[in-house]
Amino acid sequence: MTTTIPPVSKICCIGAGYVGGPTMAMIAHKCPHIDVKVVDINADRIAQWNSDRLPIYEPGLDEIVHGSRGKNLTFTTEIDQAIGEADMVFISVNTPTKTFGVGAGRAANLEFVEKCARRIAEVSKGHKIVVEKSTLPVRTAEAVKRILSNTANGATFDVLSNPEFLAEGTAVDDLLQPDRVLIGGERPESIGALVDVYANWVPRDRLLTTNLWSSELSKLTANAFLAQRVSSINAISALCEATGADVDEVAAAIGTDSRIGPKFLKASVGFGGSCFQKDILNLVYLCQYFGLPEVADYWEQVVRMNDYQKERFVTRMVRTMFNTVSDKKIGIWGFAFKKDTNDTRESAAIYVCRDLLLEKARVCIYDPQVSEHQILNDLEYVFTDGDNKISEAKRELIDKHVTFASSAQEASSDAHAIAVLTEWDEFADVDFTAVHDTMKKPAFIFDGRNRLKDLDLKAKGFDYHGIGF
Ligand SMILES: NC(=O)c1ccc[n+]([C@@H]2O[C@H](COP(=O)([O-])OP(=O)(O)OC[C@H]3O[C@@H](n4cnc5c(N)ncnc54)[C@H](O)[C@@H]3O)[C@@H](O)[C@H]2O)c1
Repeated sequence: MTTTIPPVSKICCIGAGYVGGPTMAMIAHKCPHIDVKVVDINADRIAQWNSDRLPIYEPGLDEIVHGSRGKNLTFTTEIDQAIGEADMVFISVNTPTKTFGVGAGRAANLEFVEKCARRIAEVSKGHKIVVEKSTLPVRTAEAVKRILSNTANGATFDVLSNPEFLAEGTAVDDLLQPDRVLIGGERPESIGALVDVYANWVPRDRLLTTNLWSSELSKLTANAFLAQRVSSINAISALCEATGADVDEVAAAIGTDSRIGPKFLKASVGFGGSCFQKDILNLVYLCQYFGLPEVADYWEQVVRMNDYQKERFVTRMVRTMFNTVSDKKIGIWGFAFKKDTNDTRESAAIYVCRDLLLEKARVCIYDPQVSEHQILNDLEYVFTDGDNKISEAKRELIDKHVTFASSAQEASSDAHAIAVLTEWDEFADVDFTAVHDTMKKPAFIFDGRNRLKDLDLKAKGFDYHGIGF
């Protein structure tokens, strides 16, 4: 390959989701000389990116999008045209866990990535750099390269891996000041072209370059290590509850060891989000595929521990509330998988609400950013069977036992208990005396995030239970 690569002036990103939207908005913001087009097959989502209410909630994102939109940042459904014009095409589509066929429940569904590669091959001319931004199993670039080699118009391609490490809720800060940007590739010129884009705002010593396979595998590994830390401290939280130790004290004590470090040691009702579980299961599948069952079992345990933590939370609620929550109102504070996002994918709240509903509790849900429509979708989905159907009995559970509130206080009015499932800051500012007055007694609080732990709620009359103490 002898093609020389001019500086990038036009970028197309396929997939206007939680990754594609913010990352491209940041590139447009920091690189006014680059024209950035974000495309999606979902016309509603594109319309929202072009509206005053963006499809995703992220602190600081509105300003960045509004600053560049209509200048060098465009959201459009004209996919072929945007691909055709671009010298660099990012693939940032969803890669969910497969729900059917070989590898169901573990392997990544690469259907959407493959469709993108085929589209790029079909409409491209000249030379393009194709960047894998989606999280992909190691060696996916091999398949992408093969698909791209069957192009209609004699186009040529370099493939790079540039996994995204942003965390929802802090995406803008993470993109502004990343710990590192990882770029894997084969040809130094194409790697250099992407390095030059990021170098507009990221210090060069934070731009790490590797071979393609190391880059692909590093993303899965990073998420596996992060989730493992959460499951490790959650495992210890169960032991703390059994022994009288306090998990936050244990976390502080071990976190001062510089080899362990203090971050990501917060015990909770369990991790959620679209990535941790999906990426670990993908890693498990890869290990099995490559004949490493012991390694697969090791990582699978991280997900099992997370499921156990969610189940344990509901069991503790039921036991504490005199072994029944049937027909009792439970105020659910928070439904997003973490604060400062409206994303509910794999949120612990979905599974806690499911199990409370199966115990015939009445749940009244409040979240400052998640819509009722989204919550109902999630609850319907979690109750569907293998044929994607929901039984009459489950539908009735949702219809009769789920209500919504427009504030935390309203959700807990007349309730037997509150379950704090997202660590939204506003929950600490609630008037707890007023909340206590309107609740049934004893007024139980089950704090799945230890968000209210410092408020001395026992002194205010609550029967307060957190995680790991
Ligand atoms: N969400 C995160 O925090 C995060 C962080 C790092 C990495 N990732 C990874 O980034 C990838 C994208 O995640 P996300 O959260 O942005 O997903 P998302 O579901 O929010 O967005 C994906 C978008 O791609 C679009 N799409 C799918 N197929 C398409 C096609 N053929 N043509 C055009 N558009 C298409 C969908 O309509 C959707 O809007 C995943 O692989 C994920 O694992 C996500």
